[in-house]
Amino acid sequence: MRVATGSAHAKIILIGEHSVVHHQPAIAVPLLNVAVTATLSETTRGQRLISSYFTGSLVDLPGEFEGVRVLLQRLLRRFNALSLNFDLKIDSAIPEERGMGSSAAVATAVTRAVYAFFETALDPQLLLDTVNIEEVITHGSPSGIDAATVSSTQPVWLVKGSPLKHFPIHMNAFLVVGDTGVTGQTSMAVNSVSELLKDDEQPGVGQHLINHLGTLTTAAAKYLQHNQVRLLGQTLTAAQQDLTELGVNHPVLQHLINAANDAGALGAKLTGGGLGGCMFALTQTAEQAAKVANALEQHGAVATWIEPLAQQ
Ligand code: MEV
Repeated sequence: MRVATGSAHAKIILIGEHSVVHHQPAIAVPLLNVAVTATLSETTRGQRLISSYFTGSLVDLPGEFEGVRVLLQRLLRRFNALSLNFDLKIDSAIPEERGMGSSAAVATAVTRAVYAFFETALDPQLLLDTVNIEEVITHGSPSGIDAATVSSTQPVWLVKGSPLKHFPIHMNAFLVVGDTGVTGQTSMAVNSVSELLKDDEQPGVGQHLINHLGTLTTAAAKYLQHNQVRLLGQTLTAAQQDLTELGVNHPVLQHLINAANDAGALGAKLTGGGLGGCMFALTQTAEQAAKVANALEQHGAVATWIEPLAQQ
């Protein structure tokens, strides 16, 4: 009986979430130590999708996993294997709906496992297009930055519709990610930003914020490449202000952002879709990162991760 695995990891958008959906640039970094593995094993009985966070048969998966179910069926059809008997086990350390790219990472791991199972090479662009099948179902109109970053070992610069660029970072600093424990709602957040852009009663307001986020992202790119940590911190804080005005902040996110800044962070903002999910803070040293992580936990973060930017 054949067995194959595929894996992927979490991601953090440093800057440019939401504006990237509207053709401004975004920068994201992989969190290589926060991973998901999919294991596809041939069996003699039926088709089962099992995971560390959901269980059930392929046909009666809960509605929110419709994207994974459809993706899997498309993949099996690609290999003329719709009647294959299998267990597909998903082990994920990435919290769901927290802006860390869990849906794209699961889809990437599943796609890689299926291609490995059928001993077929997987072209990087085909992988992104395939993951997008799941992302469109789960998130509506994804920019593609989640899919790009959860399958990349390097930071990513993305402008929707343009070829993906890997983005070298030359900065000695640390990211401290804090999980609010509140489920974020990416598709709802993306839709509400689109509504603001169309709002006749506030003409130009949404577009101005999107354009400003694009300007901040371009400035952040320069600071990341020239090790200008303080300027990057100020830029992240300015982006958080824009995201708040776009309507995707959440009181629990702001509570953790304030706690990080009070503990000495150089800047902090939400990451991903918002309306819950995760935030992150920037610090210069590992000691400051530990202090900020401690402050986040004291203020209710359900999990924290420290990631050196220098090793990206
Ligand atoms: C979600 O991680 C990031 C958003 O910009 C949506 C997207 O880019 O698809 C909110």
